[in-house]
Amino acid sequence: MMNRSRRKRNGLRALAVASACSTLWLSMGVAFADDVAQGKSIATNGVAGQAPCMACHGANGEGMAAAGFPFLAGMPAAYLEAQLMDFAEGRRKQPVMEPIAKTLNAEQKKAVAAWYASLKPVINPARAVQLQQSYPKGKKGAWLAQRGDWSRGLPACVQCHGPGGIGVAPTFPALAGQSATYIKNQLLAWKTGTRAEDVHGLMAHLAGKLTDEEIESVSTYFGNDIGAATASVTSAQTPAKAGGQQ
Ligand code: HEC
Ligand code: HEC
Repeated sequence: MMNRSRRKRNGLRALAVASACSTLWLSMGVAFADDVAQGKSIATNGVAGQAPCMACHGANGEGMAAAGFPFLAGMPAAYLEAQLMDFAEGRRKQPVMEPIAKTLNAEQKKAVAAWYASLKPVINPARAVQLQQSYPKGKKGAWLAQRGDWSRGLPACVQCHGPGGIGVAPTFPALAGQSATYIKNQLLAWKTGTRAEDVHGLMAHLAGKLTDEEIESVSTYFGNDIGAATASVTSAQTPAKAGGQQ
């Protein structure tokens, strides 16, 4: 049987370990909360005389489809931060976002990415998956999205972007509900080389194989057909996270 002082020592040691752990968790939690708060301020007020993010990406990060401003809400933080780096460093050449991303330092990029990742996703993932299942697979865009074309080495989009194109954190952004125009512009950007950086060049390789007609149809599929899943977000139900936050 353990004597009393030994038991006490063990108890104290356990307590010390537990409190060290909780201090660590607490400080990580505080750091994240700081990031989110700073990010919210950047999104609301902008930095260095640049227009606030909200002005284009919407008050809740929902984007403005008609203007080609993508939604950011609920996208993986790591993905958003990487995009800001790409804009700032010229790997993603885009005249509107480039100067804005350049004015954000590394900490601000991380913070604003954390803020947008923490917002309620624009799409309702369950609905997007449902729409994908009920959509006629014979249509060209749907076929590519769900089955790809193995004769040309094209995997299905949903293999990486998740069922219904809801995104898979931390790397794969959601496609469902992004405007068809925005999706199309990105595929064309890879094809023409103005969007160069992505994980292992996956998208540049794929986009290069798509015909203009295929780009059109697959963009319409995710943007309009499956994108109809965005509408249900405003209903009473609270969707689970789509891209998740990392
Ligand atoms: C004047 C309008 C405007 C403002 C202000 C603006 N953006 Fe953007 N943003 C855009 C446009 C347009 C695109 C799409 C670029 C493209 O087509 O490649 C974009 C794209 C992005 C993307 C890439 C999204 C994706 O899915 O890949 C991120 C991240 C982003 N913006 C973050 C921000 C942040 C953070 C701020 C504020 C600091 C901000 N934007 C302010 C117009 C704007
Ligand atoms: C092998 C994995 C893979 C497959 C298959 C794939 N993608 Fe992607 N996709 C990615 C990755 C990784 C990114 C993020 C690129 C980056 O970080 O810049 C991405 C990004 C995108 C984006 C940019 C989204 C945004 O918010 O800017 C679009 C649009 C896109 N993919 C469309 C498609 C379409 C359409 C298909 C099917 C024809 C497809 N993808 C198939 C890996 C894949």
